Amino acid sequence: MALVSAAEMLTKAREGKYAVGAFNTNNLEWTKAILKGAQESNAPVMIQTSMGAAKYMGGYQMCVHMVEDLIESMNITVPVALHLDHGEYEDALKCIEIGYTSVMYDGSHHPFEKNIEEAKDVVAKAHAKGVSVECEVGSIGGEEDGIIGSGELADPAECKAMSDTGIDFLAAGIGNIHGSYPENWTGLSFETLAEIAAVTDGKPLVLHGGSGIPVEQVQKAISLGVSKINVNTECQEVFAAATRKYIEEGKDLEGKGFDPRKLLAPGTEAVVELVKQRIEWFGSKGKA
Ligand code: 13P
Repeated sequence: MALVSAAEMLTKAREGKYAVGAFNTNNLEWTKAILKGAQESNAPVMIQTSMGAAKYMGGYQMCVHMVEDLIESMNITVPVALHLDHGEYEDALKCIEIGYTSVMYDGSHHPFEKNIEEAKDVVAKAHAKGVSVECEVGSIGGEEDGIIGSGELADPAECKAMSDTGIDFLAAGIGNIHGSYPENWTGLSFETLAEIAAVTDGKPLVLHGGSGIPVEQVQKAISLGVSKINVNTECQEVFAAATRKYIEEGKDLEGKGFDPRKLLAPGTEAVVELVKQRIEWFGSKGKA
């Protein structure tokens, strides 16, 4: 199946009160693991690259080819969108041109007027090519790829203005942060989420920083309009833990255990399992 835009899968998720998992890929193993997890769960899925991860993998065009070719060689039949995560304006336009089927233009660090103006421009160019668009209001806290946000609760009036630009789905800060949550984290603000949902006309909402949020909070957020949940750190953690175990057990020293195809297999399988578990949490299992 060819890559699809995320607009339809997220509209269906919003109506059906479940969320689509958006998993960040970092390399070939990750990409295969996300596709395998989604296929075994019969779930729609979004594979996303940060700007930094795409650069690491050899550039945006390489990512398009990798995901498209794996979909074919792995006989993937569930809907898959390839999405740019936290893109600058120029990067969003480049991805629209070369085959990403969904982009996030993140202008949340700009003055609000500029964020809105550039969002409108990205929407026009993306929609002309059938590409879906996510934008952000109120920065998401934590650190990701060197971009540090202080974390805040988005202003519902700004969310409405951003939603009205014609974007397909909206990321808004509701107390969520990227990376691990600190011990003194006070949890998601469901009050803010409900206020945002009330003024954005049923638009799918996006929960960034999906790693480490208790399942009850995740599911409550879904019931209030969250339809896309981003997960990155937890995949990295389970991959690292499984790889560490393999090496600490000396398996890399047995026979040809040092072959990267063997060395990276436990970590890859751990990502598959996490993807499948999160898909269950999000309620998108069987929704392909
Ligand atoms: P985590 O790394 O906290 O899972 O967040 C991922 C994310 O929101 C990507 O945009």
